[in-house]
Amino acid sequence: MKITRRGFVGTIGLGAATSLLSGTSLINKGASAQTVADAESGVYDGGIMQLNQNESARGPGPKTMQAIHAHTTKRVGRGYSPDHVNELRSALADEYSVGRENVMMATGSSPILRGAVRAFCTAEKGLVSAGPTYSTCEQVARQIGAGLEVITLDNSMHIDLDGMANAAVGAGLVYFCNPNNPTGTVHGPGAVEGFVRRIMRESPDTKILIDEAYINYAAEGTIETALPLVHEFENVFISRSFSKAHALAGLRIGYALGQEQTLKAMTDVWGMGEVNMLGAVAALTALQDKEHLEWERGENAEIRAFVSNSFREMGYEVTESSTNHIFVNLRQPARDFRAACLENKILVGRDFPPFENTHCRISMGSREEMAIAVEVFKKVLA
Ligand SMILES: Cc1ncc(COP(=O)(O)O)c(C=O)c1O
Repeated sequence: MKITRRGFVGTIGLGAATSLLSGTSLINKGASAQTVADAESGVYDGGIMQLNQNESARGPGPKTMQAIHAHTTKRVGRGYSPDHVNELRSALADEYSVGRENVMMATGSSPILRGAVRAFCTAEKGLVSAGPTYSTCEQVARQIGAGLEVITLDNSMHIDLDGMANAAVGAGLVYFCNPNNPTGTVHGPGAVEGFVRRIMRESPDTKILIDEAYINYAAEGTIETALPLVHEFENVFISRSFSKAHALAGLRIGYALGQEQTLKAMTDVWGMGEVNMLGAVAALTALQDKEHLEWERGENAEIRAFVSNSFREMGYEVTESSTNHIFVNLRQPARDFRAACLENKILVGRDFPPFENTHCRISMGSREEMAIAVEVFKKVLA
């Protein structure tokens, strides 16, 4: 008999289920009966609604969940040559019509970002990044004492591509997050191509990492993958993640697409982790389930429009977003808004300098979560 988690709780009672589940660390340490109920309801996690990390509130699609369950067998005891990781790499190569050598697997895309800075940046040949953008590359540059130039967004809250290209001359690496986190803004294919060609012309030794973690959340026609530029330029590579629209953040799967020598330069200096068997099965299934991905994109877009419009109706400016989060100009420190929301059991995004005194990033949860959250936002901003 297949026992679902809900059925399991129903069968043995909530108290027993809680201690058993927390005993095996399946849910947060010290989990209460409320935590189990919260996790089951999909609204609160550990008593708090998590709108701070751009994760998926909906979790993987039913086919992916089924695949994870089906492969959760004693076979997981044999995993040093995990069955499905090579298959996943081949599937990704087929998906993008590239060779297997052009796909580098990683445990989430974070190791790729770290490896890129370690491989390509030095004190003399630094990192060029946007301010604000996803901060992993910047953090690593600071850690290793690499040069760093952070180019503030333009007046429309977009990444300042001209400013980045100016700073790129002689740089080791340019990190370009498209769509961008935390602003959610996107650059279309013409702008991306112009940007890359200009850097490759004016600074041919500089590497360019284009982070497409949120690409599946952008509306049709607003963005295209930069893959054609990867084919053309050895110095251009892309990072992708299964943590966002595919909702597999907890299984840690990401990958890079690039020319072999460029990918190798990163693995020479930094470990990319080892993708595990269940993660690979989940990612393979999620990759094939285009129908669910479309549903996820649509669902997120509707929720994002509802929340964005709610803020606009309250008189606040919201940057147009192509991701699963929004960046709102609350005209007050994010810290104050965050504290007020937390009193109402909602966690919103951290500070994003230089906009920490005006803007807050809010991740999109499920419909149920955001219906509650919007009421809280109205209350705390009243
Ligand atoms: C733009 C961007 N890139 C990369 C990551 C890293 O995600 P992961 O390591 O789960 O792939 C994140 C996570 O939030 C992100 O926002």
